[in-house]
Amino acid sequence: MELSVQEHITQSANKAKEEEIAKMAALMEASVIINSTRNLEKLLRIIMQSAEKVMQAEASSVYLIDSSNNELYFEIATGPKEEEVKKLRLKMGEGIAGWVAYTGESLLVPDASQDPRFAKRVDEKTKFITKSVICVPLRVRNQIIGVVQVLNRIGGGTFNKSEIKFLEALASQAAIAIENTNLYEHLEERAEMLNKELKDAMDKLGFEKMRIESMIKSMDDAVVAADREGKIVMLNRVAEDIFGITAANSYGKPLADVIKDRSILENYKVVTALKSTAKNEVKIKRGNKEHIFAAVFAPILDDRGEYAGGVGVLRDVTEIKELDKMKSEFLNMVSHELRTPLTPIQAYSELMLVRNVSEEKVKKYADIINKETQRLGSLIGDLLDLSRIESGKGLSLAIEEFDFKSFLSSVYETFRSASAKHKIILTMPDKSEKIKADRNKMIQVMSNLLSNAIKYSPDGGNIYITMTETEDRVYVSVKDEGLGVAKGDLDKIFEKFYRVENEKVKKIGGTGIGLPIVKYILELHNGDIEVISEEGKGSEFKFYIPKVK
Ligand SMILES: Nc1ncnc2c1ncn2[C@@H]1O[C@H](COP(=O)(O)OP(=O)(O)OP(=O)(O)O)[C@@H](O)[C@H]1O
Ligand SMILES: [Mg+2]
Repeated sequence: MELSVQEHITQSANKAKEEEIAKMAALMEASVIINSTRNLEKLLRIIMQSAEKVMQAEASSVYLIDSSNNELYFEIATGPKEEEVKKLRLKMGEGIAGWVAYTGESLLVPDASQDPRFAKRVDEKTKFITKSVICVPLRVRNQIIGVVQVLNRIGGGTFNKSEIKFLEALASQAAIAIENTNLYEHLEERAEMLNKELKDAMDKLGFEKMRIESMIKSMDDAVVAADREGKIVMLNRVAEDIFGITAANSYGKPLADVIKDRSILENYKVVTALKSTAKNEVKIKRGNKEHIFAAVFAPILDDRGEYAGGVGVLRDVTEIKELDKMKSEFLNMVSHELRTPLTPIQAYSELMLVRNVSEEKVKKYADIINKETQRLGSLIGDLLDLSRIESGKGLSLAIEEFDFKSFLSSVYETFRSASAKHKIILTMPDKSEKIKADRNKMIQVMSNLLSNAIKYSPDGGNIYITMTETEDRVYVSVKDEGLGVAKGDLDKIFEKFYRVENEKVKKIGGTGIGLPIVKYILELHNGDIEVISEEGKGSEFKFYIPKVK
């Protein structure tokens, strides 16, 4: 059937319209894709495929400029030689793509082989024969970032000028896609970085919080914190112990409901009312003993400096206070003990200076002066020893070998007439025992034990010194019939400065350093001492030292 000219015109107009619609549809499709996917390669590939379809091209490619060396590389290449093409790079200005990238102008080349700009290199490498080309620049905010090109009309023929416009429109869509994904990638990177920073900060904070919390928890001081409503928010182990409560049962409860101690509540009230720090000494019963605490109560202020609650820190100072008290008592005692022998020494020496004193009296006075001087000497000796032990210097021993039986006999001779009220009874094995020890230190041990036995049996009685021995040890027991020591004091009397708290002992006088020194000396000799006693029924102090062979 013959077509009229009119019909020809209508048909070709219809065809042009169809093409136009297909182009529009391709553009629309591209923009939809751009907004729906973030994968750049997938995006560009779809855009280029639709360009190929609409323009009926054999192949297409997108080059991007590598800003590090200003070379063009293939971001996308479609068509039969895709893999080979992708390995190639073009210099700026090289080939048609290089020219477009360099000048920024779109280019239609009807026959590449006739164009001096054409780079044969690519075709040679890929065995593709480039004929007709449209190449347009890719612009992002006025900057050329690459080019888009479409190659060879399927079935021969060249591209036409109107198709340049279409490819330019498509290129601007592709540019948007590239920019979007870059932006998105950057955003994603930034978000990831922020996320990581945040996580690090949180981790650090969490760690800091944990560190502080565990520090507070393991502190030797009690810590109690409450919020602005006075509800408990923190309580450490020591606080649980002191107040006899558990953190689990106290959190969120009002302080006044949980802590019964009035002084704590009053201090806390002061902090709440005045919003300032309060320092106080508070007394709290622990078990059956009243403990003294140095307590600091302070307001907790938030970031804006506003009152957010209060915290109390309590330190048990009972022991320090006791030590302090003991120290002053000790000083009192020592001065008293030093003065006691001095009084008779002074009085009897004055008596001796009086004219016409009988020889008998001189002897009697001299005896007293001698005894008191010895007492003074051994007290000063003990004090010096204690200070040597305390300063860490320790005592040094002058070891010698001597016969222990004759040693004990001479100690006995010195003490037998020391007190008129007491009878000293010495019992020893028949066999003579030699030992290696510091003789003077052993005298110190014996005189401390014997003077205690005499002192602490104020009503008099027998004092038994008994020596026994085993294969490798020599034992000495000093036993009296005096005041005895109550059960609770038995292990304390070997602590320095400790004196039994009782009226009778107080009257007797002493500094509480004799037994600690005795124990120290015996331990230096690899020996030890123990006490067996009952209050009111006398005491037995029994020590041993090893026989050194
Ligand atoms: N034989 C004893 N009988 C009863 N209590 C004793 C006896 N020996 C020691 N004690 C108790 O042990 C305490 C400590 O004795 P220790 O010899 O260390 O000190 P002190 O006799 O008080 O003073 P000093 O330093 O002058 O010896 C005494 O204060 C006393 O309470
Ligand atoms: Mg003593």
